[in-house]
Amino acid sequence: MITVSCAAIIPWEVNTMADNTLIRTEDLCVWFPVRRALPFGKRRYVKAVDNVSITIEKGETFGLVGESGCGKSTLANALLGMQKPTAGKVYFKGKDLNALSIKDFKEARRDMQMIFQDPFSSLDPRWDVYRLISEPMYIRGGYTKEQMEQEVLRLLKLVGLNEDDLHRYPSEFSGGQRQRIGIARAISLHPDFLVCDEPVSALDVSVHAQILNLLMELQQEMNMTYLFISHNLAVVKDICKNLCVMYLGQVMETGDTQEIFNNPLHPYTRSLLSAVLSVNLDEKQERMILKGEIPSPIDAPKGCRFCTRCPYASEKCHQETPQLQQCGEKHFIACHFPGIGMEK
Ligand SMILES: Nc1ncnc2c1ncn2[C@@H]1O[C@H](COP(=O)(O)OP(=O)(O)O)[C@@H](O)[C@H]1O
Ligand SMILES: [Mg+2]
Repeated sequence: MITVSCAAIIPWEVNTMADNTLIRTEDLCVWFPVRRALPFGKRRYVKAVDNVSITIEKGETFGLVGESGCGKSTLANALLGMQKPTAGKVYFKGKDLNALSIKDFKEARRDMQMIFQDPFSSLDPRWDVYRLISEPMYIRGGYTKEQMEQEVLRLLKLVGLNEDDLHRYPSEFSGGQRQRIGIARAISLHPDFLVCDEPVSALDVSVHAQILNLLMELQQEMNMTYLFISHNLAVVKDICKNLCVMYLGQVMETGDTQEIFNNPLHPYTRSLLSAVLSVNLDEKQERMILKGEIPSPIDAPKGCRFCTRCPYASEKCHQETPQLQQCGEKHFIACHFPGIGMEK
């Protein structure tokens, strides 16, 4: 077994030393109350995000991965101020997002936009492309009609559509083209921070690369910072500098993407990695297939959240919740036995 030395340090404490942070969370919790079955029963919560501390640096693409229902979208909504935290803080450009005045909050929100997973339901079917793309500018105000038209045309070309598409409706486009419209709308106010919530999951595999390339080009051109959410580790591998692996509302492993791919120390990360099919048929991969279903987030397991599905779980894992510890220069893991099962 690989042995690693761990020191108790959490990422944001390390990263805030460099003043390159765009957004960070500090022990962020978002819990949703569950309606009680009996009037005097115990209050229960869906702990969608539970004690999450992450730091996203200016200009980077930060990957957030985990199975469906692990709290990725809820975390993104809290980062954008669309979901109030139950506890903990979100700092955007050094300021507590939830303590801003209404005016400052509106200004901050203009700098943060989102691309949605489903381009079929995220665009109003009654609006044409011009209205869809110009709406954020219209709400912001300060544009003449000519300026707005010019800007919409510029955005349309930027995302690979053309002038003829201006007065067509979403139903007349393919999934990939609709996602391009969603992207044009999201970048219309020149945001600093863009959340891409599974932007290719609902699209045909053949257009994945086109949309990902477009996002990467726009990031270079407009100097944006991305939070890239995906349930597929293969998608984030080449585009994300740093990565965070979530399970049932908590961070399991986080740090430099290459370091995590080269040396995945958490059994959960390894199970996600082994679910990614390798096209290299010579490569003999040992597959780690998880047993059982993801537990209910209402009564999350005591101790380590992953203990009910971890093939290496011991008594300690069922009793004590592991804290995030440093296991490499930019590598943090929440496991009592980092690297367990990585037999050489
Ligand atoms: N508004 C809400 N009210 C109650 N539960 C919610 C709400 N939003 C999300 N959840 C629950 O929180 C958990 C995490 O959801 P979500 O953040 O959408 O996961 P993911 O994006 O990783 O698929 C799920 O169990 C989901 O049912
Ligand atoms: Mg989601």
